Amino acid sequence: MLKNDMLEQWDRENFFHPSTHLGQFARGEAPQRVVTGGQGCFIEDREGNRFLDAFAGLYCVNVGYGRTEIAEAIAEQAKELAYYHAYVGHGTETNITLAKMVMDRAPDHMSKVYFGLSGSDANETNVKLVWYYNNILGRPEKKKIISRRRGYHGSGLITGSLTGLAAFHNKFDLPLDPVLHTEAAYYYRRPDLDMTEADFVAFCAAELQALIEREGADTIAAFIGEPVMGTGGIVPPPAGYWEAITPILEANDILLIADEVVTGFGRLGTMFGSTHYGLKPDIITIAKGLTSAYAPLSGSIISDKVWKVLEQGTDENGPLGHGWTYSAHPIGAAAGVANLKLIDEMGLVQNAGEVGGYFTAKMGEALSSHPHVGEVRGEGMLCAVELVEDKASRTFYDPPMKTAGAVVAEMAKEGVICRAMPQGDILGFAPPLCLTREEADRVVDVTAKSVKAVLG
Ligand SMILES: Cc1ncc(COP(=O)(O)O)c(C=O)c1O
Repeated sequence: MLKNDMLEQWDRENFFHPSTHLGQFARGEAPQRVVTGGQGCFIEDREGNRFLDAFAGLYCVNVGYGRTEIAEAIAEQAKELAYYHAYVGHGTETNITLAKMVMDRAPDHMSKVYFGLSGSDANETNVKLVWYYNNILGRPEKKKIISRRRGYHGSGLITGSLTGLAAFHNKFDLPLDPVLHTEAAYYYRRPDLDMTEADFVAFCAAELQALIEREGADTIAAFIGEPVMGTGGIVPPPAGYWEAITPILEANDILLIADEVVTGFGRLGTMFGSTHYGLKPDIITIAKGLTSAYAPLSGSIISDKVWKVLEQGTDENGPLGHGWTYSAHPIGAAAGVANLKLIDEMGLVQNAGEVGGYFTAKMGEALSSHPHVGEVRGEGMLCAVELVEDKASRTFYDPPMKTAGAVVAEMAKEGVICRAMPQGDILGFAPPLCLTREEADRVVDVTAKSVKAVLG
């Protein structure tokens, strides 16, 4: 293909990129990468560089790049019927089929799935539905949502508020009032180094209980959490965490929203993170792995308990005033159907558990004893390496992100993409679920070599 010599310049001059240092990018001081293709776990840029993408885009290309089965399903749908809306009972063969496929895979107590476009809009839907639910039940005061510090739930107004990361609040006048934050299930960052895991779980539970008492249970509608925290540092919960949290929610009649945008459809080696941890959520958020990002699509899976109240609400008030032009878009649905079939055919849920476990174990062997590696952790096809200035005293680098950023840059030179997670120096890994053991070995080798090159 003929190379457009203006492309890099057009990019700097015209394109407002998300999550980017705008000034540096526009001035040409920040890196730019124009991605041209991908196959399996690898992507290529227009300079001809090839990278093993150990973050699957933004932990979303779960089946890997270049899957023609999905591309063809999208093309067929576009030719047959690119669009029809889903309002007032309209559907297409693909979005109805996808709803059936999602519900066949969802935990038994779930009832229906609503489709949106992004993880952010799905969580926005969830908050509205929870508010509607309590209005129908005659509890208009019960509206606050508890989220966790360092949790990630999107970057809209309410979802950016649910997100517990400073960069998503600062200068945006967030978080909004209905959102409360509680302790993250992040044992490595426990407030007191002498705490055991069990002590820390008890501490998280006590913090939640105290927050509920302070605010009043009759003002709190829901608790939202990722089964394994993602963007906040890729942190599996300490043993017994969910078992300690869920009874508190039940006792206070607080709904549980399991945000499975990252963990849904196989990443933990199980179809859903909720089943992995024995959770019984009232709503499950899905996105990324639903289509492996071949087309935008998200969803809110609603439990029987919530669904009954929503039905009661429309019986009393008429049709639900909620929806987008592109809700359940047929092209996204076609991608979803082909993607879920491929996940089954390729055995990717099992592979995520097996190769993911191997990957984290190998990463641990290669790096745990390094003087600047505080912790190597993971669950399924998620892994993180947390860097520290001083291991014994658990002193973090100041300012954060520079050290991890330097390692990530070094790794890119070696052809491996990993992500420096925000608010710390954490190397994040979330490869496609089709990662092989050989590819896992390569990521581990390059990580170890790059940590050594930057930190000795
Ligand atoms: C757990 C979780 N929830 C919600 C979102 C928001 O999804 P989106 O970026 O599609 O709006 C993300 C995105 O990374 C996520 O990780």
